[in-house]
Amino acid sequence: MYTHFPQWSLVYVAVVAVTTVTASSCPLVLQTSAQVERRLLGKGFHRELETVVQVGSNDDVSSCWLLVKEVIPPGAYVDPNQLAFLCPLGGPGFYIPQTVNVETPEHQSPRVVANFYTAANHLLPDGRWLANFTVPIHLRYHRARSGESYSLEVEVKVPHPSIFLLCEDNAGGDTCSPLTQLEPCPPSGQQFCEFLPIHSFSTSEDVSGVVPVGNTDLLDTVLLATTCLTAAATLLLLTTLSRTPSSIRPIY
Ligand SMILES: *[C@@H]1O[C@H](CO)[C@@H](O)[C@H](O)[C@H]1NC(C)=O
Repeated sequence: MYTHFPQWSLVYVAVVAVTTVTASSCPLVLQTSAQVERRLLGKGFHRELETVVQVGSNDDVSSCWLLVKEVIPPGAYVDPNQLAFLCPLGGPGFYIPQTVNVETPEHQSPRVVANFYTAANHLLPDGRWLANFTVPIHLRYHRARSGESYSLEVEVKVPHPSIFLLCEDNAGGDTCSPLTQLEPCPPSGQQFCEFLPIHSFSTSEDVSGVVPVGNTDLLDTVLLATTCLTAAATLLLLTTLSRTPSSIRPIY
């Protein structure tokens, strides 16, 4: 007897089977998840970004490296020099594979990929492992625009990071290797290491900071005011000079 069996469902069955086999042979990936919660502390352009990662796993991940991979949007940046300064003072290890210009405004800046290395080595009462670190983050100036057509505040959103683990024996060894992803090695990205991507989730929205934006509608007013003030100051100076008694005038 001939059964009509659509070809695509065979493909689907095959894909599901392969995925299941791969994931189940790497218990670390299957049974580990990371909860990411963030806060953007402070006010103004110079802020602190706090990242708290709680890792739930059947394995002891406390001796593993935790890679927190950030993609910072053009409206903000982290300063590699500042991070390097903070490293010996308890800041996280990091690797930023690009030059970061700390002067450019938002519209002339690329996004910044930043890898932070830490460890989830603090055991919580619920059996999960905690990593908690804070780095300085800076908002960039934004190009002035017409206050009539646009809001004069811009929200800069920093998306949640991706989370990776690097364990000594890769916790599962060869069976996990098909799942690994090459990322810069800790503590400072000299080579590439085989990290395991970890499923992550959050109970909170992406953090964001609000940047005030200049109003181009006021440009004429600002120019006029500046010109008037400069002229007035010059006049005042000249008047004062010409009124000064000749006895105390400088003699050339
Ligand atoms: C993370 O560390 C900061 C400062 O050290 C602290 O205020 C905060 O409560 C910590 N968060 C967690 C969840 O432990």
